[in-house]
Amino acid sequence: MTVENEGKKYDLIASAYAEIRNSFATEQQYLDLLMNYLKPNSHILDIGCGSGFPIASYLLQHEFQITGIDGSKELLKIAKIKYPPMKTVCGDIRTLELNEKFDAVVEWWCLFHIPQQDHEKMILRFANWLKPNGILEFTTGDQEYEGKNSNMLNQELSFYSLDPKQYEKYLHNAGFKILLCESDQDQHLVWIAKYEP
Ligand SMILES: C[S@@+](CC[C@H](N)C(=O)[O-])C[C@H]1O[C@@H](n2cnc3c(N)ncnc32)[C@H](O)[C@@H]1O
Repeated sequence: MTVENEGKKYDLIASAYAEIRNSFATEQQYLDLLMNYLKPNSHILDIGCGSGFPIASYLLQHEFQITGIDGSKELLKIAKIKYPPMKTVCGDIRTLELNEKFDAVVEWWCLFHIPQQDHEKMILRFANWLKPNGILEFTTGDQEYEGKNSNMLNQELSFYSLDPKQYEKYLHNAGFKILLCESDQDQHLVWIAKYEP
């Protein structure tokens, strides 16, 4: 069964989401770690970039080139107004085609809207978007999980994670070397991996 693109649901709450997503939690320190692996002016793909804050905005401040992809055209409109140098592409991250390879791929708080059966495919897509030796930073839950809630601005959204062991296996099979996997907050893991095909 194909599950709807959750990005479209964010169209209904776009300005309110952009307003509440107004400060860093732990992202900054992990973006700093990512930047250590990159050359100046590298091109970074921000997956599920939302309004561009805080991921794209922070990377733009550090003079990287950013392409953001997201399923919410309303969030992308906000991103374009706030961060004009950012290139944006609207579509479902499970199917969208990009004819470009990147030095890094970053994903924060988006994979958890993708049904579990597509997570292996997403790791392969991350690999496919990277140049050899490119760096992936992404986030997951810390245990297998599937559920729905309306905690985000009363909009019902679906949430999914696999057991971290599954991500390890999928990363390994896709040609990644894991550089970091740690818990940055309750029930949440940050992964950094190098694509070494
Ligand atoms: C919780 S927000 C996170 C946004 C941003 N990364 C941040 O840290 O604030 C989740 C984002 O994923 C996007 N999204 C969810 N499912 C998607 C899908 N299947 N394809 C594209 N974007 C999707 C939503 O539109 C939304 O912008």
